[in-house]
Amino acid sequence: MANVSGSGRDGFGSRFGVIAAIAGSAVGLGNIWRFPYVAGENGGGAFLLLYVGCVLAIGIPVMMSELIIGRRAQSYAFGSFKKLAPGKPWTIIGALGIVSAFVILAFYSTVAGWTLEYIVQSLTGAFHGKTSAEFKTTFEGFISGSWWPLIWQMVFMFLTAIIVYMGVQKGIEKWSKILMPMLLVLIIVLAVRSLTLPGGMEGLKFFIYPDFSKITWDVVLKAMGQAAFSLSIGMGALITYGSYIPKNNKLSSTAFQITIADTGMAILAGLIVFPAIFSYHINPTEGPGLAFIVFPTIFSQMPGGDIFAVFFFFLLAIASLTSTISVLEVVVAFASEELKITRKKATIIGSLAITFVGVFCTLSFGVMSDVKIFGKTIFDLFDYSSANILLPLGALLIVLFTGWFLGKKNVRDELSNGSLLKVRLFGAFLFIVRFIAPVVIVFVFLKSLGIINF
Ligand code: PFF
Repeated sequence: MANVSGSGRDGFGSRFGVIAAIAGSAVGLGNIWRFPYVAGENGGGAFLLLYVGCVLAIGIPVMMSELIIGRRAQSYAFGSFKKLAPGKPWTIIGALGIVSAFVILAFYSTVAGWTLEYIVQSLTGAFHGKTSAEFKTTFEGFISGSWWPLIWQMVFMFLTAIIVYMGVQKGIEKWSKILMPMLLVLIIVLAVRSLTLPGGMEGLKFFIYPDFSKITWDVVLKAMGQAAFSLSIGMGALITYGSYIPKNNKLSSTAFQITIADTGMAILAGLIVFPAIFSYHINPTEGPGLAFIVFPTIFSQMPGGDIFAVFFFFLLAIASLTSTISVLEVVVAFASEELKITRKKATIIGSLAITFVGVFCTLSFGVMSDVKIFGKTIFDLFDYSSANILLPLGALLIVLFTGWFLGKKNVRDELSNGSLLKVRLFGAFLFIVRFIAPVVIVFVFLKSLGIINF
């Protein structure tokens, strides 16, 4: 998908290309780093249950809506609303998306940078024979430093920018078609390994057995936020991707397949992390460092662990890259189309600005750890507010637009590919985007903020 500016549009070649690119955006640190740490902090099994509920009630309808909007308008997020609703304030969704993209990429690149450090560490055999306590100390020492975390963050942003700058996403997608299935295989192997560790079953129980007493509205909000974050919905990244989908692609199947793949990856990550946590006596509420303590511990205790470690962190870095590309694209498409600067300039300015903000996220584990806004470090604030506020808000506006503004005929037309396909359950879809998804999002917002109480 090299060309994002209206004319001479470059679509996804094959059906598999569509799936690979959207899945590339969806599968990333959200599944393997964020999901386990948020689930660990919010009750394990209870969180999983709520998470799956949010994926079904909000994730699938919003993803379908974004693909419908993008393919209908043949434009990126901001432009799509301008085209489909000229003169109306719906472009606010596009503007909100730019803010979300900025905030997400600023902290995401910090963590993506950590994966690069861990590739190097695993290459140099630094994982040998250490205990989980030692990994925790090493990790904390690393992230609180000022230089390396920043250097890796910048390297990662540079890689993202260079791909967007050269418009070679297609090349990346070709590679990720091979690399992402490899990540899946590796993750399955690791899940088997972890589940068979002594004491692993305790962890499995924690992860899948819902303890209903753990459910609070705050936990529901975090499950909803994690679902939005993991599926890449709510900021218009999938509107852009939707505009590249061939007219004969069945959008509903695409959305279902991506959702299953993404949710499957998160659950598999949980099946690795939680048994290992219980087996190695790691604290499930460790926070953002969780994956960077658990995975190295698993590798250090496993035959051939060094090689697994190199592969794992390499594939995780690639998975992160296919996600960050889709986030930067939102900013670049907006800047080049709306501010009328060249795509190259937009990429350079956009990524420099994001990197600048990102520096504060990275330093908030070290020299800036005392800087707190609303009681949170800068990293935590960005992580929290993007997933739990910005994306669900974007998702809300997107379903409202699709359900109430886009028009039944247009929606049906996109879902049926111009009446070529039979659309099953159209009434149900419309009901969900009009009522269920918006009501759930608003309700969760109001309850978790304590605005309404019964
Ligand atoms: N879905 C990505 C992940 O799980 O790592 C993160 C992400 C990408 C969020 C793109 C939002 C987005 F628009």
